[in-house]
Amino acid sequence: MSLAGHVLPGVAAARLVDLGARISGCTACRLSETRTHAVPGDGPVTARIMAVGEAPGEKEDLTGRPFVGAAGRLLTRLLQGIGLDRHDIFISNVLKCRPPQNRDPLPDEVAACAHHLDAQVALIQPDAILLLGRHAVARLLPGSPPISRCHGERIIERTRVYVPLYHPAAALYNGGMLATLEADMQRVKGYLDEAAARARAAAPVAVPVPEVAARTQLDLFGGATPL
Ligand code: URA
Repeated sequence: MSLAGHVLPGVAAARLVDLGARISGCTACRLSETRTHAVPGDGPVTARIMAVGEAPGEKEDLTGRPFVGAAGRLLTRLLQGIGLDRHDIFISNVLKCRPPQNRDPLPDEVAACAHHLDAQVALIQPDAILLLGRHAVARLLPGSPPISRCHGERIIERTRVYVPLYHPAAALYNGGMLATLEADMQRVKGYLDEAAARARAAAPVAVPVPEVAARTQLDLFGGATPL
């Protein structure tokens, strides 16, 4: 199976580290003037699942790590609830720098930052991307219905599965939304289980070679002892 678009995992890992350094030094938009740290994202280059949020908040800006505040704790719990360890997932954001007072990303900021997320997706080549909130949906599945109508759905583009989900930060303050997000995570589990079963069914089966056939085969390539 190819990993990271036919790039060897070690090479892809080095490129991801380089990309992180470029993101940390990026000055492409005004947010670089107010940030403490850029937040490139976290996780292994071999991750089969990515989660993409909106933008770093205060804790993320201070630490340089994604989803480390209250919303991050909820995300960790939701992932654990379906048997996933957040350290196996690549967690990133549409914007890599915190907008002042956590305001919404502006269109020119999203445009200036877009190539960073695109490069992460191209290196990691995830099988599934969880889109946390409307900004992630708008960025990676432009033209989608509002998140209130597409959350929990599975959208397949080429071989990749996208699942729009309510943002954990929004669910923190809305019990109904939290219940919906928990139910949607169970749907995510179903999608992942189905994908794993499809991959198992498609995997080549090792067929034991009978001894007679094996020896006849040898004969074809150089006169091994006749049976
Ligand atoms: N909210 C986000 O969208 N991203 C983070 O990294 C933290 C909170």
